[in-house]
Amino acid sequence: MMKRIAVLTSGGDAPGMNAAIRAVARCGPAYGLEVVGIRRGYAGLLDGDIVELGPRAVANIIHRGGTILGTARCEQMKTPAGLRKAVEQLEKANVGGLVAIGGDGTFRGALELSRLTAVSVVGAPGTIDNDLYGTDATIGFDTAVNTALEAIDRIRDTAEAHQRLFFVEVMGRTRGFIALHVGLAGGAEEVLVPEIRTDVEALGASIRAQLAAGKRASIVVVAEGDDAGRAFDVAHKMCDGLAMDYRVCVLGHVQRGGPPSARDRLLASKLGARAVQVLAEGRSGVMVGEVCNRVVETPFEQTFSNQKDLDQELLQLLKVLAR
Ligand code: F6P
Repeated sequence: MMKRIAVLTSGGDAPGMNAAIRAVARCGPAYGLEVVGIRRGYAGLLDGDIVELGPRAVANIIHRGGTILGTARCEQMKTPAGLRKAVEQLEKANVGGLVAIGGDGTFRGALELSRLTAVSVVGAPGTIDNDLYGTDATIGFDTAVNTALEAIDRIRDTAEAHQRLFFVEVMGRTRGFIALHVGLAGGAEEVLVPEIRTDVEALGASIRAQLAAGKRASIVVVAEGDDAGRAFDVAHKMCDGLAMDYRVCVLGHVQRGGPPSARDRLLASKLGARAVQVLAEGRSGVMVGEVCNRVVETPFEQTFSNQKDLDQELLQLLKVLAR
């Protein structure tokens, strides 16, 4: 009979992780489960860095970015020795279940753990990149898009004042979800995503045609993982030799911080609660996510092996609206 569960956050932090921790800490007792928190993700698990996490310990965190538990990227969890140590620590802490909040790296570790131990392991998707299969949005994605959008709105003002071309780099190591969503919402002229090969010459021709048609400014949103390179590389390749005046703005980690949006708080609360329910009902090896407004469970392996597609219709719409 499970009596105690643990929660950890791992990988890149994402706004809304705290709301998910809070949901776990407060739903546990509803199922008669004591909740503990593991600090610094899997790195803290390996060190046995574990703290009590009663309902009062998570007061006043729903609105805070980052994660009160801390997080880390842990290379050791990719090794058999690291995994063995993690299992030992979970068993020593006497926990029957673990909620792992994070992205694909977190779930690769969670999958291995769920195979190696009788401890039940459930995941909740926490990453700004939105690059997990099994949920329409990950916790943190909406906030990151809104943060980047605010920056782009500001950039548009100065771009228009000077009639300039801006390249704005957003996060997204392997996927273009942030770039596409912020590009469409911010009225960008072009969006470059890793999923689609970038033709720098065609991009230049398109921007020049738009300027010739009377546009006063242009914004090209570049996902950091684009095949043509980072925003500075794309700008050099496209503009050098054309005597085009341009500026580059890399939004970087600004996108990861700040208070979570209402949408992220709701998602995190729902998924944190469901993760506890899944453990209480004796299931393991799945991530909880939300698809078409319903909370669903997806086996860990599928969350990172299956590809969630970029919405092609949104890409097309962006092109039409950028005319
Ligand atoms: O995974 C989220 C993410 O923000 C990516 O978009 C980005 O490439 C990466 O993390 C940056 O990682 P770090 O904070 O370790 O530099």
